[in-house]
Amino acid sequence: MISESKPPSTAPVGIAVVGLGRGFMLTLPSILADSRLKLVAGCDPRPEARAAFKEQFNGRSTPYIDGLFEKNDVEVVYVASPHQFHRDHAIAALRAGKHVLIDKPIAINLADSRAIMDAGEKYERHVAIGPCHSFDPQIRASLALIRSGKFGRLRMLRSSYATDFMYRPRREEELKTKDGGGVVFSQGAHQIDIARLLSGGLVKHVTALTGSWDTSRSSEGAYAALLEFENGICANLTYSGYGHYDSDEQHGWISELGITKDPSSYGGARRKLNTLPPDISEEFLKEERTFGRASPLPASTDNEHFGELFLSLDRADIQVTPRELRIYGDDKREVIPVDLEHGSRAGIMEAIWQMARENNAPIQNAQWGHATLEVCHGILNAAATGTWQKMAEQVAVSEYPTTSTKNARSEI
Ligand SMILES: NC(=O)c1ccc[n+]([C@@H]2O[C@H](COP(=O)([O-])OP(=O)(O)OC[C@H]3O[C@@H](n4cnc5c(N)ncnc54)[C@H](O)[C@@H]3O)[C@@H](O)[C@H]2O)c1
Repeated sequence: MISESKPPSTAPVGIAVVGLGRGFMLTLPSILADSRLKLVAGCDPRPEARAAFKEQFNGRSTPYIDGLFEKNDVEVVYVASPHQFHRDHAIAALRAGKHVLIDKPIAINLADSRAIMDAGEKYERHVAIGPCHSFDPQIRASLALIRSGKFGRLRMLRSSYATDFMYRPRREEELKTKDGGGVVFSQGAHQIDIARLLSGGLVKHVTALTGSWDTSRSSEGAYAALLEFENGICANLTYSGYGHYDSDEQHGWISELGITKDPSSYGGARRKLNTLPPDISEEFLKEERTFGRASPLPASTDNEHFGELFLSLDRADIQVTPRELRIYGDDKREVIPVDLEHGSRAGIMEAIWQMARENNAPIQNAQWGHATLEVCHGILNAAATGTWQKMAEQVAVSEYPTTSTKNARSEI
């Protein structure tokens, strides 16, 4: 909690968005589905995005962040600009007295995420990191089940996702690791967040191998990481963004966004890049997916998800799917249904409301995002050096059951 002088109000929370790109497009349906929230201002250097923002939401718009807070109607700023701008945009918003939602990852380097944490404290405003799949309802239901102790303690977590991430159209920096490119920052942030949330938060050591298998797209497109938590829980995380097998098949062709997928579109991302006419750049193709250019997304039919997830507890294995927890217990199998959340990112919308009107930040605050980013760097450093990396800036999940799992590993 932070000191708060404004009385709670029932009027919609005014949101300003910085960066009207693909990330904003994906979150937009959830903002529009929540009558407690109102888009009042948008900022983007692209004129067509600003024009569309004015037309669709009757909101004001600016090319850059200066001037975005001239009117007093903005309470929360959603920073959805490219990773490299997160620090400056978040700090400008905090300095202006706004709460901030920063799309994942919090930043590219740890000095920047520390600066965001410090600014949140200095200006006494809340920071949330998301949208991120640790907010998905089936993850929240899994945490509730672990906290309940019904099946004993969590001992091991396995998460795996295979997608076509590397062949979706990319900006140049999205394929350069030093600029935050590759799957570790953009996709690891989701997977690590889920693992940390369900395992108590405190990663002790990380080791990993990464793969950069396509020289024409040279950043990491795959990794296999092993996380050892302070409480002994072990998390095994694998990701491949090389566009062959697609884990969404395991969820009945429900996509990461909770939208029904057409299996006959197999290979579409790679094919589109390979058949790009010479006069069309990849950046142009990426812009075709941004606000002001792209058509609205089809409605989600299911909850969002982040691939395959299995939890091993003392008395059950649990398969986590978008709409149910499948429990494989000692004597029987059972299914716990997970409700469909309208707007698919309802957990994030609740976090926006909570920051602005209930003076609460979610677990996924700036400190949390910083700790997740520490693990992203741990993966890259471990892969570069062939070592286990010790984590030093982790934060715990509150009310997490005390565990002391014995998963054998020789001491470093
Ligand atoms: N959570 C998710 O599901 C999800 C999905 C996609 C992207 N993202 C995140 O969103 C962020 C942006 O990625 P993207 O894929 O949307 O990129 P994008 O290129 O599609 O969009 C970025 C937008 O920011 C604008 N922009 C550039 N410089 C700016 C500036 N100085 N001030 C304001 N706006 C500026 C661009 O014109 C563009 O419209 C990244 O951090 C990414 O990780 C999250």
